[in-house]
Amino acid sequence: MGKGFFISKTLGIVGVIVGTGVVATIIALSVVYSQEKDKIQEAVMPPTTPSTPKDPWENYRLPDSLSPVSYNITLWPRLVVNASTGLYIFTGQSAVVFQCEKDTDVIVIHCNKLNLTLLSLISRDGATAPTIKRSWLEVPTQFLVIQLNSNLMAGRQYELYTEFIGELADDLGGFYRSEYTEGTSPPVKKVVATTQMQPVDARKAFPCFDEPAMKAVFHMTLLHAHGTVALANGMNLASVNVSVSGQDVTRTSFEPTPLMSTYLLAFVVSEFGFIQSPEGEKVLIRIWARKQAIAEGQGNYALEKTGPILEFFENYYISSYPLTKSDQIALPDFSAGAMENWGLITYRETALLFNPASSSNGDKEWIATVISHELAHM
Ligand SMILES: *[C@@H]1O[C@H](CO)[C@@H](O)[C@H](O)[C@H]1NC(C)=O
Ligand SMILES: *[C@@H]1O[C@H](CO)[C@@H](O)[C@H](O)[C@H]1NC(C)=O
Ligand SMILES: *[C@@H]1O[C@H](CO)[C@@H](O)[C@H](O)[C@H]1NC(C)=O
Ligand SMILES: *[C@@H]1O[C@H](CO)[C@@H](O)[C@H](O)[C@H]1NC(C)=O
Repeated sequence: MGKGFFISKTLGIVGVIVGTGVVATIIALSVVYSQEKDKIQEAVMPPTTPSTPKDPWENYRLPDSLSPVSYNITLWPRLVVNASTGLYIFTGQSAVVFQCEKDTDVIVIHCNKLNLTLLSLISRDGATAPTIKRSWLEVPTQFLVIQLNSNLMAGRQYELYTEFIGELADDLGGFYRSEYTEGTSPPVKKVVATTQMQPVDARKAFPCFDEPAMKAVFHMTLLHAHGTVALANGMNLASVNVSVSGQDVTRTSFEPTPLMSTYLLAFVVSEFGFIQSPEGEKVLIRIWARKQAIAEGQGNYALEKTGPILEFFENYYISSYPLTKSDQIALPDFSAGAMENWGLITYRETALLFNPASSSNGDKEWIATVISHELAHM
Protein backbone atom coordinates (compact mmCIF):
# COMPACT_ATOMS: atom_id res chain seq x y z
CA MET A 1 0.00 0.00 0.00
CA GLY A 2 1.14 3.54 -0.52
CA LYS A 3 2.09 4.93 2.79
CA GLY A 4 4.42 7.67 3.97
CA PHE A 5 4.41 11.40 4.39
CA PHE A 6 6.83 14.14 3.66
CA ILE A 7 7.78 16.25 6.73
CA SER A 8 10.20 19.10 7.19
CA LYS A 9 13.72 18.46 8.53
CA THR A 10 13.09 20.48 11.74
CA LEU A 11 9.89 18.61 12.41
CA GLY A 12 11.77 15.37 11.72
CA ILE A 13 14.53 16.18 14.25
CA VAL A 14 12.01 17.26 16.91
CA GLY A 15 10.12 14.05 16.18
CA VAL A 16 13.24 11.91 16.65
CA ILE A 17 14.06 13.61 19.98
CA VAL A 18 10.53 13.29 21.29
CA GLY A 19 10.33 9.72 19.97
CA THR A 20 13.57 8.73 21.72
CA GLY A 21 12.26 10.17 24.99
CA VAL A 22 9.02 8.28 24.66
CA VAL A 23 10.80 4.99 23.89
CA ALA A 24 13.14 5.44 26.91
CA THR A 25 10.14 6.10 29.16
CA ILE A 26 8.29 3.07 27.82
CA ILE A 27 11.31 0.82 28.42
CA ALA A 28 11.76 2.13 31.97
CA LEU A 29 8.08 1.70 32.77
CA SER A 30 7.88 -1.79 31.30
CA VAL A 31 10.89 -2.96 33.34
CA VAL A 32 9.28 -1.66 36.53
CA TYR A 33 5.95 -3.14 35.46
CA SER A 34 7.32 -6.61 34.79
CA GLN A 35 9.20 -6.65 38.09
CA GLU A 36 6.03 -5.69 39.95
CA LYS A 37 3.96 -8.19 37.98
CA ASP A 38 6.34 -11.04 38.81
CA LYS A 39 6.09 -10.17 42.48
CA ILE A 40 2.29 -10.13 42.37
CA GLN A 41 2.15 -13.36 40.39
CA GLU A 42 4.43 -15.13 42.85
CA ALA A 43 2.20 -13.94 45.66
CA VAL A 44 -1.31 -14.60 44.34
CA MET A 45 -1.44 -16.49 41.04
CA PRO A 46 -2.13 -20.24 41.18
CA PRO A 47 0.05 -22.36 38.89
CA THR A 48 -1.33 -22.19 35.32
CA THR A 49 -2.90 -25.29 33.83
CA PRO A 50 -2.14 -26.12 30.20
CA SER A 51 -5.02 -24.93 27.99
CA THR A 52 -7.12 -27.63 26.37
CA PRO A 53 -6.42 -28.12 22.65
CA LYS A 54 -8.72 -25.92 20.60
CA ASP A 55 -10.86 -27.02 17.71
CA PRO A 56 -9.28 -25.92 14.43
CA TRP A 57 -11.98 -23.32 13.81
CA GLU A 58 -11.22 -21.63 17.12
CA ASN A 59 -7.73 -20.72 15.95
CA TYR A 60 -7.37 -17.57 13.93
CA ARG A 61 -4.81 -19.27 11.66
CA LEU A 62 -5.84 -21.83 9.06
CA PRO A 63 -4.95 -25.47 9.79
CA ASP A 64 -2.21 -26.94 7.59
CA SER A 65 -4.33 -29.87 6.39
CA LEU A 66 -5.57 -28.26 3.13
CA SER A 67 -4.01 -25.94 0.57
CA PRO A 68 -5.70 -24.24 -2.39
CA VAL A 69 -4.74 -24.91 -6.02
CA SER A 70 -7.14 -22.77 -8.06
CA TYR A 71 -10.39 -20.86 -7.84
CA ASN A 72 -13.10 -20.33 -10.44
CA ILE A 73 -15.12 -17.34 -9.30
CA THR A 74 -18.13 -15.58 -10.82
CA LEU A 75 -19.36 -12.40 -9.15
CA TRP A 76 -22.32 -10.23 -10.04
CA PRO A 77 -22.48 -6.85 -8.31
CA ARG A 78 -25.78 -4.92 -8.56
CA LEU A 79 -25.13 -1.23 -9.00
CA VAL A 80 -28.71 -0.27 -8.18
CA VAL A 81 -30.25 -0.53 -4.74
CA ASN A 82 -32.83 -3.26 -4.18
CA ALA A 83 -36.03 -1.34 -3.43
CA SER A 84 -37.51 -3.98 -1.12
CA THR A 85 -34.43 -4.53 1.07
CA GLY A 86 -32.74 -1.14 0.68
CA LEU A 87 -29.44 -2.96 0.11
CA TYR A 88 -26.86 -3.00 -2.65
CA ILE A 89 -25.83 -6.62 -3.05
CA PHE A 90 -23.63 -8.97 -5.04
CA THR A 91 -24.18 -12.63 -5.71
CA GLY A 92 -21.45 -15.09 -6.48
CA GLN A 93 -20.42 -18.63 -7.12
CA SER A 94 -16.99 -20.05 -6.48
CA ALA A 95 -15.33 -23.40 -6.99
CA VAL A 96 -12.06 -23.88 -5.16
CA VAL A 97 -9.84 -26.84 -5.97
CA PHE A 98 -7.68 -27.76 -3.01
CA GLN A 99 -5.09 -30.36 -2.18
CA CYS A 100 -5.42 -32.40 1.00
CA GLU A 101 -2.05 -32.41 2.79
CA LYS A 102 -3.11 -34.34 5.93
CA ASP A 103 -6.14 -36.58 6.40
CA THR A 104 -8.94 -34.55 7.97
CA ASP A 105 -12.72 -34.70 8.38
CA VAL A 106 -13.19 -30.95 8.56
CA ILE A 107 -12.84 -28.18 5.98
CA VAL A 108 -11.98 -24.80 7.52
CA ILE A 109 -12.03 -21.94 5.01
CA HIS A 110 -12.38 -18.18 5.50
CA CYS A 111 -15.78 -16.61 4.92
CA ASN A 112 -17.02 -13.35 6.39
CA LYS A 113 -20.34 -11.54 6.04
CA LEU A 114 -21.50 -13.79 3.18
CA ASN A 115 -24.80 -15.68 3.24
CA LEU A 116 -24.29 -19.10 1.67
CA THR A 117 -27.09 -20.40 -0.49
CA LEU A 118 -25.48 -23.58 -1.85
CA LEU A 119 -22.60 -25.82 -0.80
CA SER A 120 -21.22 -29.00 -2.33
CA LEU A 121 -18.04 -31.06 -2.36
CA ILE A 122 -16.71 -33.33 -5.09
CA SER A 123 -13.52 -35.27 -5.57
CA ARG A 124 -11.26 -34.32 -8.48
CA ASP A 125 -10.00 -37.82 -9.29
CA GLY A 126 -13.27 -39.69 -9.77
CA ALA A 127 -13.31 -41.14 -6.26
CA THR A 128 -16.36 -40.32 -4.19
CA ALA A 129 -15.94 -37.36 -1.86
CA PRO A 130 -16.95 -37.53 1.79
CA THR A 131 -20.52 -36.39 2.43
CA ILE A 132 -21.21 -33.26 4.46
CA LYS A 133 -22.33 -33.84 8.07
CA ARG A 134 -22.96 -30.21 8.96
CA SER A 135 -21.65 -26.77 8.15
CA TRP A 136 -21.75 -23.41 9.88
CA LEU A 137 -20.18 -19.96 9.91
CA GLU A 138 -17.81 -19.53 12.83
CA VAL A 139 -18.24 -15.78 13.19
CA PRO A 140 -15.43 -14.86 15.67
CA THR A 141 -12.68 -16.44 13.54
CA GLN A 142 -14.42 -15.70 10.20
CA PHE A 143 -14.52 -19.30 9.02
CA LEU A 144 -16.93 -21.46 7.10
CA VAL A 145 -16.61 -24.85 8.82
CA ILE A 146 -17.71 -28.03 7.04
CA GLN A 147 -17.68 -31.23 9.04
CA LEU A 148 -17.58 -34.39 6.95
CA ASN A 149 -18.81 -37.94 7.54
CA SER A 150 -15.40 -39.38 6.61
CA ASN A 151 -11.85 -38.23 5.96
CA LEU A 152 -10.42 -36.29 3.06
CA MET A 153 -7.30 -38.22 2.06
CA ALA A 154 -3.80 -36.77 1.94
CA GLY A 155 -2.49 -36.42 -1.62
CA ARG A 156 -5.95 -36.11 -3.17
CA GLN A 157 -7.60 -33.05 -4.64
CA TYR A 158 -11.18 -31.93 -4.01
CA GLU A 159 -13.43 -29.16 -5.24
CA LEU A 160 -15.65 -27.15 -2.93
CA TYR A 161 -18.47 -25.28 -4.68
CA THR A 162 -20.40 -22.46 -3.02
CA GLU A 163 -23.06 -19.97 -4.02
CA PHE A 164 -23.54 -16.91 -1.86
CA ILE A 165 -24.93 -13.42 -1.47
CA GLY A 166 -23.19 -10.46 0.14
CA GLU A 167 -23.86 -6.81 0.71
CA LEU A 168 -22.04 -4.38 -1.57
CA ALA A 169 -21.61 -1.98 1.35
CA ASP A 170 -19.82 1.37 1.31
CA ASP A 171 -17.35 0.11 3.93
CA LEU A 172 -14.12 0.39 1.87
CA GLY A 173 -13.19 -3.28 2.47
CA GLY A 174 -13.61 -6.49 0.46
CA PHE A 175 -15.96 -6.08 -2.50
CA TYR A 176 -17.46 -2.66 -1.80
CA ARG A 177 -19.34 0.26 -3.29
CA SER A 178 -17.96 3.66 -4.19
CA GLU A 179 -20.23 6.50 -5.34
CA TYR A 180 -19.82 9.78 -7.17
CA THR A 181 -21.91 12.17 -9.22
CA GLU A 182 -21.42 13.17 -12.82
CA GLY A 183 -22.76 16.22 -14.66
CA THR A 184 -24.44 19.24 -13.17
CA SER A 185 -27.93 19.64 -14.56
CA PRO A 186 -28.91 17.62 -12.67
CA PRO A 187 -25.95 15.62 -11.19
CA VAL A 188 -26.36 11.90 -11.83
CA LYS A 189 -25.33 9.42 -9.13
CA LYS A 190 -22.96 6.70 -10.34
CA VAL A 191 -22.01 3.55 -8.44
CA VAL A 192 -18.74 1.63 -8.74
CA ALA A 193 -18.26 -1.91 -7.43
CA THR A 194 -14.62 -2.25 -6.42
CA THR A 195 -12.25 -4.04 -4.07
CA GLN A 196 -9.75 -3.50 -1.28
CA MET A 197 -8.54 -6.91 -0.09
CA GLN A 198 -5.78 -5.99 2.29
CA PRO A 199 -5.34 -7.28 4.88
CA VAL A 200 -8.12 -9.85 5.47
CA ASP A 201 -10.98 -8.85 3.20
CA ALA A 202 -11.01 -11.29 0.28
CA ARG A 203 -13.08 -13.54 2.57
CA LYS A 204 -15.84 -10.91 2.32
CA ALA A 205 -15.99 -11.41 -1.46
CA PHE A 206 -15.95 -15.23 -1.67
CA PRO A 207 -15.01 -18.17 0.60
CA CYS A 208 -11.23 -18.57 0.38
CA PHE A 209 -8.08 -19.68 2.17
CA ASP A 210 -7.32 -16.06 3.04
CA GLU A 211 -3.71 -16.11 4.20
CA PRO A 212 -0.88 -14.72 2.04
CA ALA A 213 1.01 -18.01 1.86
CA MET A 214 -2.08 -19.82 0.54
CA LYS A 215 -1.36 -18.91 -3.06
CA ALA A 216 -3.51 -20.10 -5.94
CA VAL A 217 -4.48 -19.38 -9.55
CA PHE A 218 -7.68 -17.34 -9.90
CA HIS A 219 -10.09 -17.63 -12.85
CA MET A 220 -12.38 -14.59 -12.62
CA THR A 221 -15.68 -13.90 -14.35
CA LEU A 222 -17.81 -10.82 -13.74
CA LEU A 223 -21.46 -10.31 -14.63
CA HIS A 224 -22.33 -6.66 -15.12
CA ALA A 225 -25.00 -4.39 -16.57
CA HIS A 226 -24.80 -3.38 -20.24
CA GLY A 227 -22.85 -0.17 -20.62
CA THR A 228 -20.55 -0.86 -17.69
CA VAL A 229 -16.96 -2.07 -17.98
CA ALA A 230 -15.44 -4.90 -15.92
CA LEU A 231 -11.77 -5.11 -14.93
CA ALA A 232 -9.71 -7.64 -12.99
CA ASN A 233 -6.08 -8.62 -12.44
CA GLY A 234 -5.84 -10.42 -15.78
CA MET A 235 -6.58 -9.19 -19.28
CA ASN A 236 -10.23 -9.30 -20.41
CA LEU A 237 -10.61 -12.49 -22.45
CA ALA A 238 -14.17 -12.25 -23.72
CA SER A 239 -17.39 -10.32 -23.16
CA VAL A 240 -20.73 -11.82 -24.15
CA ASN A 241 -24.30 -10.73 -23.54
CA VAL A 242 -26.27 -13.36 -21.68
CA SER A 243 -29.51 -13.64 -19.77
CA VAL A 244 -29.12 -14.69 -16.12
CA SER A 245 -32.14 -15.15 -13.84
CA GLY A 246 -34.23 -13.26 -16.37
CA GLN A 247 -31.85 -10.27 -16.51
CA ASP A 248 -29.80 -9.22 -19.53
CA VAL A 249 -26.18 -8.76 -18.49
CA THR A 250 -22.70 -8.86 -19.97
CA ARG A 251 -20.44 -11.71 -18.87
CA THR A 252 -16.74 -10.82 -18.97
CA SER A 253 -14.09 -13.43 -18.27
CA PHE A 254 -10.43 -12.74 -17.57
CA GLU A 255 -7.18 -14.53 -18.21
CA PRO A 256 -6.17 -16.60 -15.15
CA THR A 257 -3.85 -14.88 -12.68
CA PRO A 258 -0.36 -16.13 -11.89
CA LEU A 259 -0.04 -18.15 -8.67
CA MET A 260 -0.75 -15.42 -6.10
CA SER A 261 -2.11 -14.40 -2.69
CA THR A 262 -5.75 -13.48 -2.11
CA TYR A 263 -4.93 -9.99 -0.81
CA LEU A 264 -3.65 -8.96 -4.27
CA LEU A 265 -6.94 -9.70 -6.03
CA ALA A 266 -8.85 -6.83 -7.57
CA PHE A 267 -11.97 -6.45 -9.68
CA VAL A 268 -13.98 -3.37 -10.60
CA VAL A 269 -17.26 -2.73 -12.39
CA SER A 270 -17.81 0.89 -13.38
CA GLU A 271 -18.79 3.37 -16.05
CA PHE A 272 -15.26 4.78 -16.05
CA GLY A 273 -13.32 5.98 -19.06
CA PHE A 274 -9.67 5.26 -19.80
CA ILE A 275 -6.63 6.29 -21.80
CA GLN A 276 -4.00 3.82 -22.94
CA SER A 277 -0.45 3.51 -24.16
CA PRO A 278 0.12 3.50 -27.95
CA GLU A 279 -0.58 0.26 -29.84
CA GLY A 280 2.40 -2.03 -30.23
CA GLU A 281 3.94 -1.39 -26.82
CA LYS A 282 5.13 -4.50 -25.01
CA VAL A 283 2.73 -4.06 -22.10
CA LEU A 284 -0.71 -2.49 -22.40
CA ILE A 285 -0.86 0.42 -19.94
CA ARG A 286 -4.23 1.93 -19.12
CA ILE A 287 -5.32 4.66 -16.71
CA TRP A 288 -8.96 4.49 -15.60
CA ALA A 289 -11.04 7.18 -13.86
CA ARG A 290 -14.36 8.98 -13.86
CA LYS A 291 -15.19 9.88 -17.47
CA GLN A 292 -15.06 13.58 -16.69
CA ALA A 293 -11.59 13.32 -15.11
CA ILE A 294 -10.31 11.42 -18.16
CA ALA A 295 -11.88 13.99 -20.50
CA GLU A 296 -10.11 16.77 -18.57
CA GLY A 297 -6.76 15.05 -19.11
CA GLN A 298 -6.24 14.24 -15.43
CA GLY A 299 -4.88 10.77 -16.21
CA ASN A 300 -2.31 11.99 -18.76
CA TYR A 301 0.54 12.52 -16.30
CA ALA A 302 0.17 8.99 -14.85
CA LEU A 303 0.05 7.47 -18.34
CA GLU A 304 3.14 9.42 -19.40
CA LYS A 305 5.15 8.27 -16.36
CA THR A 306 4.08 4.61 -16.03
CA GLY A 307 5.96 3.24 -19.06
CA PRO A 308 9.33 4.81 -18.13
CA ILE A 309 8.94 3.78 -14.45
CA LEU A 310 8.17 0.15 -15.40
CA GLU A 311 11.15 0.11 -17.72
CA PHE A 312 13.38 1.57 -15.00
CA PHE A 313 12.36 -1.20 -12.58
CA GLU A 314 12.82 -3.90 -15.22
CA ASN A 315 16.44 -2.80 -15.60
CA TYR A 316 16.98 -2.12 -11.91
CA TYR A 317 15.68 -5.51 -10.76
CA ILE A 318 16.80 -7.35 -13.91
CA SER A 319 13.32 -8.83 -14.07
CA SER A 320 10.75 -8.20 -16.76
CA TYR A 321 7.20 -7.12 -16.00
CA PRO A 322 5.42 -10.48 -15.54
CA LEU A 323 1.93 -9.60 -16.80
CA THR A 324 0.34 -8.73 -20.15
CA LYS A 325 -1.20 -5.46 -18.98
CA SER A 326 -0.96 -2.80 -16.33
CA ASP A 327 -4.21 -1.12 -15.31
CA GLN A 328 -4.27 1.71 -12.79
CA ILE A 329 -7.58 3.05 -11.59
CA ALA A 330 -8.54 6.14 -9.55
CA LEU A 331 -11.43 5.52 -7.17
CA PRO A 332 -13.65 8.23 -5.66
CA ASP A 333 -13.71 6.34 -2.30
CA PHE A 334 -10.57 4.49 -1.25
CA SER A 335 -9.15 3.89 2.23
CA ALA A 336 -5.40 3.65 1.53
CA GLY A 337 -3.30 5.86 -0.73
CA ALA A 338 -3.02 3.02 -3.21
CA MET A 339 -2.92 -0.78 -3.30
CA GLU A 340 -0.54 -2.91 -5.35
CA ASN A 341 -3.05 -5.47 -6.72
CA TRP A 342 -1.19 -7.42 -9.38
CA GLY A 343 -2.09 -5.95 -12.79
CA LEU A 344 -4.90 -3.70 -11.49
CA ILE A 345 -3.56 -1.11 -9.06
CA THR A 346 -6.20 0.87 -7.18
CA TYR A 347 -5.60 4.48 -6.07
CA ARG A 348 -7.42 7.23 -4.32
CA GLU A 349 -7.94 9.98 -6.89
CA THR A 350 -5.36 12.37 -5.45
CA ALA A 351 -2.62 9.75 -5.76
CA LEU A 352 -3.14 9.09 -9.49
CA LEU A 353 -4.88 12.05 -11.11
CA PHE A 354 -3.09 15.29 -11.90
CA ASN A 355 -5.25 18.24 -12.76
CA PRO A 356 -3.09 20.89 -14.45
CA ALA A 357 -5.73 23.51 -13.60
CA SER A 358 -5.66 23.00 -9.85
CA SER A 359 -2.90 20.59 -8.72
CA SER A 360 0.51 21.80 -7.47
CA ASN A 361 4.03 20.62 -8.27
CA GLY A 362 3.98 18.95 -4.86
CA ASP A 363 0.91 16.96 -5.96
CA LYS A 364 2.76 15.96 -9.12
CA GLU A 365 5.75 14.72 -7.14
CA TRP A 366 3.43 12.81 -4.80
CA ILE A 367 1.72 11.10 -7.77
CA ALA A 368 5.08 10.06 -9.25
CA THR A 369 6.16 8.76 -5.83
CA VAL A 370 3.03 6.66 -5.26
CA ILE A 371 3.00 5.26 -8.82
CA SER A 372 6.69 4.29 -8.47
CA HIS A 373 6.02 2.66 -5.11
CA GLU A 374 3.13 0.56 -6.47
CA LEU A 375 4.88 -0.40 -9.71
CA ALA A 376 7.90 -1.58 -7.71
CA HIS A 377 5.58 -4.12 -6.06
CA MET A 378 4.80 -5.61 -9.49
C1 LIG B 1 -15.59 -22.02 -14.29
O1 LIG B 1 -16.92 -22.39 -14.01
C2 LIG B 1 -17.81 -22.27 -15.12
C3 LIG B 1 -19.19 -22.62 -14.64
O2 LIG B 1 -19.44 -22.15 -13.36
C4 LIG B 1 -17.35 -23.15 -16.24
O3 LIG B 1 -18.19 -22.94 -17.36
C5 LIG B 1 -15.92 -22.82 -16.61
O4 LIG B 1 -15.44 -23.73 -17.57
C6 LIG B 1 -15.02 -22.89 -15.40
N1 LIG B 1 -13.72 -22.41 -15.77
C7 LIG B 1 -12.59 -22.97 -15.33
C8 LIG B 1 -11.33 -22.34 -15.79
O5 LIG B 1 -12.59 -23.93 -14.59
C1 LIG C 1 -34.72 -7.56 -4.12
O1 LIG C 1 -34.52 -8.40 -2.99
C2 LIG C 1 -35.55 -9.38 -2.82
C3 LIG C 1 -35.29 -10.09 -1.51
O2 LIG C 1 -33.96 -10.59 -1.44
C4 LIG C 1 -35.52 -10.32 -4.02
O3 LIG C 1 -36.53 -11.30 -3.89
C5 LIG C 1 -35.73 -9.52 -5.30
O4 LIG C 1 -35.59 -10.36 -6.43
C6 LIG C 1 -34.71 -8.39 -5.40
N1 LIG C 1 -35.03 -7.56 -6.53
C7 LIG C 1 -34.17 -7.36 -7.56
C8 LIG C 1 -34.63 -6.44 -8.63
O5 LIG C 1 -33.08 -7.91 -7.61
C1 LIG D 1 -27.72 -12.27 5.21
O1 LIG D 1 -28.54 -12.86 6.20
C2 LIG D 1 -28.86 -12.00 7.29
C3 LIG D 1 -29.63 -12.81 8.30
O2 LIG D 1 -30.70 -13.47 7.71
C4 LIG D 1 -29.64 -10.80 6.77
O3 LIG D 1 -29.90 -9.91 7.83
C5 LIG D 1 -28.80 -10.07 5.72
O4 LIG D 1 -29.53 -9.00 5.16
C6 LIG D 1 -28.41 -11.05 4.62
N1 LIG D 1 -27.52 -10.37 3.70
C7 LIG D 1 -27.79 -10.20 2.41
C8 LIG D 1 -26.80 -9.45 1.63
O5 LIG D 1 -28.80 -10.65 1.90
C1 LIG E 1 -24.53 -6.12 -25.24
O1 LIG E 1 -25.73 -5.43 -25.42
C2 LIG E 1 -25.61 -4.01 -25.38
C3 LIG E 1 -27.01 -3.40 -25.44
O2 LIG E 1 -27.76 -4.00 -26.44
C4 LIG E 1 -24.70 -3.54 -26.52
O3 LIG E 1 -24.54 -2.14 -26.45
C5 LIG E 1 -23.34 -4.21 -26.37
O4 LIG E 1 -22.51 -3.88 -27.44
C6 LIG E 1 -23.50 -5.73 -26.28
N1 LIG E 1 -22.21 -6.31 -25.92
C7 LIG E 1 -21.72 -7.42 -26.48
C8 LIG E 1 -20.41 -7.90 -25.98
O5 LIG E 1 -22.31 -8.01 -27.37
